[in-house]
Order: sequence, then C-alpha cells, then structure tokens
Amino acid sequence: MEIQRYKTYDEISKASAQVGAEIVNNKPNAVLGLATGSTPLGLYKEMARMHKEDGLDFSHVKTFNLDEYVGLSPDHPQSYHYFMHENLFKHINIEPQNVHVPSGTTKNYQAFCKWYEERIEECGGIDLQVLGIGSDGHIAFNEPGSSLGSRTRIKTLSKQTIDDNARFFEKTEDVPIYAITMGVGTVMEARNLILLAEGESKAPAIADAIESPVSSMCTASILQLHPFSTFFLDEKAAGNLKMTEYYKWIQAKKPGAPSSC
Ligand code: PGA
Repeated sequence: MEIQRYKTYDEISKASAQVGAEIVNNKPNAVLGLATGSTPLGLYKEMARMHKEDGLDFSHVKTFNLDEYVGLSPDHPQSYHYFMHENLFKHINIEPQNVHVPSGTTKNYQAFCKWYEERIEECGGIDLQVLGIGSDGHIAFNEPGSSLGSRTRIKTLSKQTIDDNARFFEKTEDVPIYAITMGVGTVMEARNLILLAEGESKAPAIADAIESPVSSMCTASILQLHPFSTFFLDEKAAGNLKMTEYYKWIQAKKPGAPSSC
C-alpha cells in the first residue's frame, strides 16, 4: 500500500491519469475499472486531454464501472451511464461495445450481476481499478457492514451516502435508495487499485482506511490487503493521518529504489 500526498486536486488528477496512461500505453487492450463521483472528474479530464494532445489510444481498451443507481435509465442525467458518457467516453476513442456499466434497469438483477462478474473474467480481469471513497468509508457502494468477500450485487445505500449524494439531485428524496455495485471481493481482484480522495470531509474515512485495522465498517480498509494499492490524497484528505512524516519520507525516497517492487 502506498500513500501519495499532493498539494492540490489538480496534482492528484494528473498523477493518477499518468498511472492510467502508463497501463494503457504498455497494454493497449487494458481493462480499466472506473468510478463516478466528483473526485475522478479531474482524472477523466486529464485522460481526455492525453487522448487529444498526446494520442493516448483507447481503441482497444475495455472498461467496467463500479456501480449504478437502481431505477435510473442510462439517459437519466444523474445515472452513472450518463456521467461516464459526458465526462469521459464521448471525449476519447473508446468503442461503445467495450464499455460496461452495471444496469440500473435490468429485469433480472441476479442474472445481470452474475453476467457482469463473468464478463470481467472473460475480458481477462481488471488491470487498473479507480476508486473514490465515501465519507462513510465505502468503496463503490459497499457500505459499512458489506462483506469483504462480496461480489456484484444490490446494496441498500446508507443514510450518509444518500445525504452526501443529494447535492446532485433536486431533493434528497430523489436519491435512489438502492444501487447495483461490484463487491469488495470483485474490486480486490483488480491487479492495481488507485484510490483518490480530496477535501477534509474525507479525512476521517481516509484515516480509518489506512491506519485502523481492516474492517467491514470501512470497506476501503481492505486496500491494506492488496499488493498493489495506492492512495492519491490532497493535504486535507490526508489531514487526520498520524504517520504523515513517515509517508512523506517514503514518497520522497521511493523513486531512488533500485527497482520498483
Ligand atoms: P465523491 O464520491 O467523489 O463524489 O466524493 C466518492 C464515493 O462516494 O465513492
């Protein structure tokens, strides 16, 4: 697990986009796991810029999104299908058939969840999974108490998540109560995980995820068990961490190590 601290949101966006670009450049048919929410917007903007200005090629890339609200159709402005199209897919050369976002309107959720898991496997697994973190410590919509071995399924959103996400809707009552989400176990099978967080509202969850014992009460804490996970944090999100000097030391010295391991 690595902790990368940055001064600004812009730096988080650029550094995380660089990780994505390296994976895509090294493996043109890479499989990317994508997240929604405010936090990855800068990363997607930077990826779109890299496509336009540096020729970053997504023509063979496949993507899988973490989650979708139950009941919202793909053309609903608050659906994650719509979000991904507006903020990334329409700006890059990705093939529509290579894009996967969980369905919020399927007639058979159980069958869809099973298919989603199988489709990830069929595509060779996820090379890089992008994650945000909820103020309740969730990754994807794996709310507190979610099994750390869970797979793609329906989850009931916590009151805190509904309140946090109400800013995107006209009123709190409009926020869907259920979501379809990759499980913690699904996320953990990705070869690399990057978790992005900015702002002081995330500071308690980040401290729990990094410096408290692994617990289903903060599903992001599972990243402690992943061999290749990196947190990209601004100073406010990192504000409750106790080992700050230690993380700074490691971040400064690691580039000089004889090989990346
Ligand atoms: P945010 O959401 O990026 O909008 O803060 C993160 C999350 O809920 O995972």
